[in-house]
Amino acid sequence: MQAVQSLAGKSFVITGAGSGIGHAIALACAEAGANLCLAGRNLSKLEDAAGRARADGAAGDILVAATDIASTESVAAMYAAALDRFGTLDGLVANAGVMAPSPPVQDFDEAAFRQAIDVNLLGTARTVAQGAKILVEQGRGGTILATGSSLVYRSGPFMSAYVTSKAAVHGFMNTVALDLAPHRIRVNLLVPGTSSTPPLQAMEGFLERAAAATPLGEVVSPDELGRFAVFLLGDAVPHMTGAALVVDSGKSIAA
Ligand SMILES: NC(=O)c1ccc[n+]([C@@H]2O[C@H](COP(=O)([O-])OP(=O)(O)OC[C@H]3O[C@@H](n4cnc5c(N)ncnc54)[C@H](OP(=O)(O)O)[C@@H]3O)[C@@H](O)[C@H]2O)c1
Repeated sequence: MQAVQSLAGKSFVITGAGSGIGHAIALACAEAGANLCLAGRNLSKLEDAAGRARADGAAGDILVAATDIASTESVAAMYAAALDRFGTLDGLVANAGVMAPSPPVQDFDEAAFRQAIDVNLLGTARTVAQGAKILVEQGRGGTILATGSSLVYRSGPFMSAYVTSKAAVHGFMNTVALDLAPHRIRVNLLVPGTSSTPPLQAMEGFLERAAAATPLGEVVSPDELGRFAVFLLGDAVPHMTGAALVVDSGKSIAA
């Protein structure tokens, strides 16, 4: 893969780096030369991702950290491990999340709703907040990226918990961009449409139907999201903050 720009000498934390979009972001950032702390709950998936990055010729240092973003202490331990190894941090990618269908709203499942909020919203907020504190204290700016969802703009049935949690992430990132602007910390949201990742690959026929429903007729590849994340994390567009960047094969603007 051709690196979009160099991230050499920069250090980032990426959550959900063991699979899917986070894995692709990790490989693209490694290709661009960054030092990386790859986080998620499943250590062996993270070690596989780190091994793949090294085998692909990563020039930076790659660390793995078993992390549950539903736990404040676990997220703190993740940042402590990254700082211990790299000394400083240039940014983070709050990508980890869970995608699960909801029952129709008349059969509301409060426990499942709370889980979506705790992982997707509070987990993202914990990750961003703790990382922001480090970046503010360092006093040399930085960049924060989170993963939203184009379902916030163009929804479907039986996704109420997931879409609610992601809509809140969109609002959270907008206001955080303003909190952190005085510290020269840029905050942007990557907004994928349907992308070919393990939870959706496991649903028979889903990706084919989703592709057919987009103007471009194809789902989004995790690799292209990885390349885009490198661009967003780098210094090419230093005045972009508070942006929600949609990559969805045109789905959200189609009739
Ligand atoms: N695929 C799509 O079409 C699509 C579209 C829009 C947005 N997104 C968003 O993209 C992000 C990545 O999803 P994906 O499609 O790549 O699915 P995925 O392959 O299942 O990736 C999700 C990652 O999040 C991690 N994770 C889940 N719960 C966690 C927790 N409590 N603590 C730490 N890590 C946790 C998982 O690793 P462990 O299980 O090892 O913890 C996994 O690596 C999610 O935020 C998702 O909502 C996906």
